[in-house]
Amino acid sequence: MSGVKASQGAAFSKIMGIGGYRPRRVVDNAEIVTYIDSSDEWIRTRSGITERRWASPDETVQMMSVAAARTAIERAGLEPGQVDTVIVATVTHLLQTPAIATTIASELGAKNAAAFDINAACAGFCYMVAMADALIRSGASKYVAIIGVERLTDLTDIHDRSTAFIFADGAGAAIMGPSDEPSIGPVVWGSDGEQSDLITQTQPWDKAIPRQDRVRPEDGTAEAATWPTIAMTGNPVFKWASYAMAKTAAEALDAAGVQPDELDVFVPHQANNRITDAMFKALKLPSDVVIARDIVNHGNTSAASIPLAIETLLESGEAKSGQTALIIGFGAGLVFAGQVITLP
Ligand code: UT7
Repeated sequence: MSGVKASQGAAFSKIMGIGGYRPRRVVDNAEIVTYIDSSDEWIRTRSGITERRWASPDETVQMMSVAAARTAIERAGLEPGQVDTVIVATVTHLLQTPAIATTIASELGAKNAAAFDINAACAGFCYMVAMADALIRSGASKYVAIIGVERLTDLTDIHDRSTAFIFADGAGAAIMGPSDEPSIGPVVWGSDGEQSDLITQTQPWDKAIPRQDRVRPEDGTAEAATWPTIAMTGNPVFKWASYAMAKTAAEALDAAGVQPDELDVFVPHQANNRITDAMFKALKLPSDVVIARDIVNHGNTSAASIPLAIETLLESGEAKSGQTALIIGFGAGLVFAGQVITLP
């Protein structure tokens, strides 16, 4: 036997507080149809979206993250200095290095916190819940800030009719910490890289902005610089999300030992109201289960969508602290993750 000591943390973890930041600018469908060939009716009936928020220049990834996390820390009843780990899920932090979690931790006052970014697209929040739960139970961390944040408009072509009406901006954060009783069910997660081309950046940065000081043999001469955007082949993703993700959601319920009639709240990633409806039906959830419909007013904010939707339900009183919720995220990768949680 080796003499190495292993750490051991709390028996369980829980979500202690949730906070969100929604950009000021409201963009309705009437404005969207000035950019793409579409209609208010098509957008509403096909996706459920009536309006979304787009960030202004001052509403940066850093600014929105700090605002959301501050609210979550306050609601958790903690001081920022108690947060020892900061994880940020985003696909729209445009600076490759350092991880933005480090500067977010500093601005929050989470001095010396472990800090790192992850990229799990629209499943980012559920990935972070699983990671924070494991970190707390292993003893590596005690209080973890998990932040889903996107400025998807930075990577959206507003003239692309397959994405311009869907993507939006915002940040949602949660603080996780030790718990005496189980509050986070086992995660059911995975990926399918064979479908990676369904949602993808149109070109890598080195192709978008060729290096000036080096001519690559494969490039020949430097190309004109073009800004990459996110391209989505929506319909296959729609079908995958509606059918395969309902199965994943059912597995997450089963893994947590929660029957459909014991569930209070259903918060799928806010990608499309029709996907939400298909999953709700496939799961055979009772009609009194509260369903998140944040997409109607906030569009698809990728990693931020689940915590923002939870905050909306808690603030409106539709959902209550202590209730049992099923969350499930899915998106570019393709990646997916779902688990049952107790609402803070
Ligand atoms: O967050 C990450 C995960 N993302 C998702 O889960 C998104 C999943 N996908 C979706 O939500 C849906 O696929 C969309 C909302 C993006 C599109 O809805 P759809 O029912 O899959 O539409 P479609 O692409 O099959 O297109 C149906 C019709 C086509 O016309 P025809 O061929 O039937 O005449 C399209 O040309 O709708 C047309 N169309 C549009 N019409 C008005 C496609 N985009 C638009 C548009 N406005 N923006």
